[in-house]
Amino acid sequence: MPITTTKEMPEVKLGGKTLSFVAVPMAHWPDSMVSYIPEDKLLLSNDAFGQHIASTARFNDEIEQSLLWHEAEAYYANILMPLRSAVGRAVKALDGVSIEVIAPSHGVIWRKDLGDILTKYGQWIEGYTVPKVVITYDTMWKSTKDIAYAMAEGIASEGVKCRVYCLTGNHRSDVMTDILEAKAVFVGSPTLNNHVYPSVAEFLAYMRGLKPMNKIGAGFGSYGWAGGATRFIEEQMKLAGIELIEADLDFAYKPTEEEWQKAYDFGVMVAKKVKE
Ligand SMILES: Cc1cc2nc3c(=O)[nH]c(=O)nc-3n(C[C@H](O)[C@H](O)[C@H](O)COP(=O)(O)O)c2cc1C
Repeated sequence: MPITTTKEMPEVKLGGKTLSFVAVPMAHWPDSMVSYIPEDKLLLSNDAFGQHIASTARFNDEIEQSLLWHEAEAYYANILMPLRSAVGRAVKALDGVSIEVIAPSHGVIWRKDLGDILTKYGQWIEGYTVPKVVITYDTMWKSTKDIAYAMAEGIASEGVKCRVYCLTGNHRSDVMTDILEAKAVFVGSPTLNNHVYPSVAEFLAYMRGLKPMNKIGAGFGSYGWAGGATRFIEEQMKLAGIELIEADLDFAYKPTEEEWQKAYDFGVMVAKKVKE
């Protein structure tokens, strides 16, 4: 049977409905395509605007809103973020197209207040950030945790939102979801066998692949003798595109009172910086 490609026939008339096809390669697979049905002002958006939600609710106004927005953010942060140029091209292709419903290939269908999700995508593609700090770490004996919480207390004292995630017990994708709109990211680890703690190495590899945009950050940690974890973290953060700020939060064993204060003061400084 002869096959006609959508390149040869970008529009198919089915009787009462027309299907128009637009190729959007790498949003987020090489063969990605969106389809538009002008009679219903319906966009079948493929991966864009998706969420990993399995629900009996079919539309965005039928589902709990905080869950919906969390999942839309999680989907963008963990699936589409490194492909923002392709997603941007796909969104741009919709300029001037009258859309009343967006049906992505995953999750619920957007039929109410479409402007909200379109605005969010515009912001995420541009690397929009809010004054928020994400600190993530792992620990064997809690010294690295103490540094993380000293920083967090300093940040909170300035009224800046801060989330702390231990990588034992929190999934890397949840941490990345919070990082999406955060201005600053700090990653901490104890030194284990001259290297970084395995869960932190895994997180760094994941974050690097997702190419976060418009972030400042630094590494921190605790070591016993020669150290090594904090250096490795900072190298990887740099490779992930994060602008490093001078931190000097690499402490031998349990942080002393002065070191705790240093981490707290660093948190205050970071909070002021993200409020600028
Ligand atoms: C199995 C093991 C291996 C370690 N290897 C190193 C190492 O190679 N270099 C180093 O400086 N410290 C090493 N340490 C010391 C820890 O980095 C140090 O105790 C640190 O304070 C632990 O931080 P935490 O309390 O956040 O787990 C090692 C500790 C353990 C238990």
